[in-house]
Amino acid sequence: MKTTILLVVCICLIISLSSLVHAQQYEVAPGRIEKVIEIIQGLENTQDAGFGGFTEQTINITNIQNGAIALNLRVSGAIEGNTLINETLLMIPGKSIRSVNLKFLSLNLSANNSGELIIDGETLTTIPITITARPKEQSKGSWLMLEIKEMQENVYTGRQYVFRLFTTSLNAETEFNATLIYTLKRSGAEELIEGQNMLSQEEDVLIKGANSLIRSIDIPKDLELGDYILEVTAEYFGEEAQTSTFLVVSVPLYKHKLFGKVPVWVIILILALILLGFIIFKIIKKHIEANKRFHVKVEYDKLPQPGDRSLTVGRIAETDKKAYFDMDSLTVHTIVAGSTGGGKSISAQVIIEECLLKNVAVAIFDPTAQWSGMLRKLEDKKMLEFYPIYGMKKSEARAFPGNVRAIESAREKINLLKYMKPGEIQIFTLNKLDPKDMDFFVANVVREIFSSNLQETRGLTKMLAFDEIHRILPKFGGSGSGFLQIERSCREFRKWGIGVMLISQVLSDFVGEIKANINTEVQMKTRDEGDLNRIKLKYGESYIQELIKSPVGTGMVQNNKFNNGIPYYIQFRPILHSVIRLTDEELAEYNKYNQIIDNLEYSLDQLEENKIDVFDLRLELKLSKDKVKSGNFNMVKIYLEGLTPRIDKAWQKLGKTPKQKELELIDEVVLREEMEKARKLKAEQDVAKKKIMADRGEEEKFTFKTEASPDVSLTLPDGTLVISLDGLISELIPMKAEKFQAAVNEKQNMIADWVKKAFKREDIEKELRPILEKDAFLKKMQELKEKVAKEAEGGDKKKEEAT
Ligand SMILES: Nc1ncnc2c1ncn2[C@@H]1O[C@H](COP(=O)(O)OP(=O)(O)OP(=O)(O)O)[C@@H](O)[C@H]1O
Ligand SMILES: [Mg+2]
Repeated sequence: MKTTILLVVCICLIISLSSLVHAQQYEVAPGRIEKVIEIIQGLENTQDAGFGGFTEQTINITNIQNGAIALNLRVSGAIEGNTLINETLLMIPGKSIRSVNLKFLSLNLSANNSGELIIDGETLTTIPITITARPKEQSKGSWLMLEIKEMQENVYTGRQYVFRLFTTSLNAETEFNATLIYTLKRSGAEELIEGQNMLSQEEDVLIKGANSLIRSIDIPKDLELGDYILEVTAEYFGEEAQTSTFLVVSVPLYKHKLFGKVPVWVIILILALILLGFIIFKIIKKHIEANKRFHVKVEYDKLPQPGDRSLTVGRIAETDKKAYFDMDSLTVHTIVAGSTGGGKSISAQVIIEECLLKNVAVAIFDPTAQWSGMLRKLEDKKMLEFYPIYGMKKSEARAFPGNVRAIESAREKINLLKYMKPGEIQIFTLNKLDPKDMDFFVANVVREIFSSNLQETRGLTKMLAFDEIHRILPKFGGSGSGFLQIERSCREFRKWGIGVMLISQVLSDFVGEIKANINTEVQMKTRDEGDLNRIKLKYGESYIQELIKSPVGTGMVQNNKFNNGIPYYIQFRPILHSVIRLTDEELAEYNKYNQIIDNLEYSLDQLEENKIDVFDLRLELKLSKDKVKSGNFNMVKIYLEGLTPRIDKAWQKLGKTPKQKELELIDEVVLREEMEKARKLKAEQDVAKKKIMADRGEEEKFTFKTEASPDVSLTLPDGTLVISLDGLISELIPMKAEKFQAAVNEKQNMIADWVKKAFKREDIEKELRPILEKDAFLKKMQELKEKVAKEAEGGDKKKEEAT
């Protein structure tokens, strides 16, 4: 039969009955299978055959052919229902051996428990098989296999332990009940006590085929900690199957105690609260930052610190940090600028109040008499409401000792230093002066100081403040030449310990060294285009937005020594003195008594010249003067009523009449000379500068920054003073087209004329002259600026190469 197929199936029966673990009742006897056709063993039914056991055999099938073969395996007969074949379709390559496992269960064992294994395919081989049952003691097999699969790594007291239990029945056909007993027990314990170091629970389950059960055990809070064994035992038909796993029962981390005292959960809670607090803090801070108006970086250690020579002027804007000024830095001039109502006068007054508290002698030139409020204590409720924000007490409000004098004429001899006393303020009201005379007046003040023979000193001892100084600008009605005087004072006064403070609505119109050498700049809120433009060019765009929005009383402060020279914002504190200026009647009182006292003093001087001892009279006059300084006119009156008759008597005794004091005027010619002197000085300095450079072999190169000499500075039709081409560019940027047209039109080109005259640059003049439209003009200027800068640079390089 099919002899062409060279196949001999060699079946080696390897009787290798494995020992069965769980079978309690019976074990199936091993069958023997030999080559090709084999072995039928008689059923030795020694006892009643019951459930539970099985036996297994492995047969080796050898393909002795060269080619591969495919075989089918099955059983027939009484054993059909209880024989399991692990592979029923077998592919065997040529000259190879394959093993097949057969499991025979002692289920449904009857008297005739025989059948056959049929192997067919390319051959047909039948192997008769008989199963023999043995007594249960010898049985080692079981139908049911258990396995625990862990689902969680840690087992904690007070929690559930969840695991998976696999139950696998070898008898796929039959359902049966089993009782599962779960036992968790302390490994190595001498005695097991339920609930203390042992837990057990049980359940009945129906077993069929393979199953996966998810089960849990509640681990009590007080279960002893340590190593445990979880055992699962299944009981069925008097048989038993078992599995186990190893576990460590511990306390959850959060219940551990740090140093045996503080539970970890408390620490975690505290840390979480701190973290939460920190996050909330960060969010709030971010919110506050986002709502801040001012974003400039302030390095607090680079700001003036508190000390003997520090003035407390307010707070760094939007912080609670106090802001200080180094008072000695005020010896080089200070400018307070800002649009009307922005808080210029108040912030300047704060600086002056602080100077007075440090015993500086102050003189203020005030066109509005607003500063006369310095002589009275603050009563204004609104201003007092600001005190607590700055940590100030209402009891700190005070008046400052001083006097107020009306200037009658710009040429009046001022006797400035006679009136300036440490810690006192001398207010000169200028409301009677014509704006055109302001230049004379400034020249007068400067002359007065230069002629006073002052001693050189270090540190700030005197302070001069000019409020509303923009009035000397041509566009506010002045002649413009007052600047030369101020420039001179700014340069020279420092050596005498005199600081100059200029308070002005605009700053960009200030010229030359005043603008270039501002030591401390306080810029309050402004809307002036020129100033905004200057700030943008100098410090950057962001300052413009901030300054436009800046609240009243907050100003940008710049000083090269503060905050690395980067401008920052100060919220000036409220003032201590009255916000209200003295009434005209009160001012008249001051004038009246000042005049009386001046006259009496003049009268005493004359008596002294006549060799009359006036020591006591002078003492009494001083007392009445002091009462004027504290505004106590009733007392002044009383003193004077006593003093005047005594002086009159002295004159009667002398038999003469005193001369009346007359307003002493400085000759206009002298003042003009003074102004001319300033102009010449400046010109000389420019020449000297040029000479020094020439001596050093450095030729001063023309750039757009080069300043024209003062006599050829350009005054635009709107009054703006210009001294350099760079300055002209910054004036032109915000300038309205109509204003530009007034200077440059078909009939005249003031700028081209000026370039030719002031800088002798005909090349530039020629380029500019034909352009009559503002934007095109400005563009051309920017181009020329670059060209000129390159020329200057090129010159430098050539020189370097030559050397
Ligand atoms: N630091 C401050 N704290 C509280 N209020 C202030 C402060 N600065 C200014 N103010 C308020 O603003 C008003 C105007 O201030 P101030 O007179 O200083 O302005 P100004 O810039 O000098 O104006 P003008 O150009 O009209 O002289 C003050 O009367 C005051 O009410
Ligand atoms: Mg003011």
